[in-house]
Amino acid sequence: MNNLYEDVKNCYNSIKDKITIKPKIALVLGSGLGDFAEQINITNIIDYKDIAGFPKSTVEGHKGRFVFGYIKDIPLVIMQGRVHYYEGYSMDKVVLPIRLMKMMGAEVLFLTNASGGINKEFNVGDFMVIKDQISSFVPSPLIGKNFEEFGTRFPDMSEVYSKDLIGKIELAAKNNNINIQEGVYLQLTGPNFESPAEIKMCSVLGADAVGMSTTCEAVAAKHIGMKICGISCITNMASGISETPLSHEEVSETADRVAPLFKTLVEQSIIEIGKGN
Ligand code: HPA
Repeated sequence: MNNLYEDVKNCYNSIKDKITIKPKIALVLGSGLGDFAEQINITNIIDYKDIAGFPKSTVEGHKGRFVFGYIKDIPLVIMQGRVHYYEGYSMDKVVLPIRLMKMMGAEVLFLTNASGGINKEFNVGDFMVIKDQISSFVPSPLIGKNFEEFGTRFPDMSEVYSKDLIGKIELAAKNNNINIQEGVYLQLTGPNFESPAEIKMCSVLGADAVGMSTTCEAVAAKHIGMKICGISCITNMASGISETPLSHEEVSETADRVAPLFKTLVEQSIIEIGKGN
């Protein structure tokens, strides 16, 4: 078994001279949000391919780089392109970037994603602040030897998503007249979309939205002591609820269509979070 702490440390050591700011917030950009990174006051960019031992995202439309910079006076690091379990990486590789961003100094993890809407009150194009999650359908990234440098063997998950940060996102939404839903996000492995029976199962279990990322990252971040928040963009209604077959094109089309509003919501939320953290 690799020493995962050393792996993250080696990644960090290979780029630390190129990191000129200490990020406070780590932002992970989901489908369609990628170019948000270009909107901030950029100080520097590090391509994943230039980081020793770093997994590379293989999904089309996902860039692979860390963008460092500021929104107002808030220093942040942005992951433009995440690593997904369905790409074939082990869970410890999938969450390595999260641990690396913590090592860079980030205290807050802000997760975004595209997801399928299960809650019938939701509409395509809605935003959902994640209030809780179901990660039980993907392996925990904490399986294997525990590295105390990261956190405790049996971390508490009773408040994965910080109530304080949820309040700030909801305040930012309200102040900018952006409608926002609240709900539980469930992660499946993907890459196939779900069958209607699987979505029914997710619904019975209490999920409001389903996707292929996020919860494993949140588990690793909680383990390592970060404060976490997340927003899902409902890019389509889930299988069996939607009347048409699902496709990556539909996901991308919706994500692109609502991107301007999503970017405003994320930016204003970060400003709100920056005030108190
Ligand atoms: N299911 C899983 N992942 C997704 C979906 C979906 O319907 N939409 C966007 N990502």
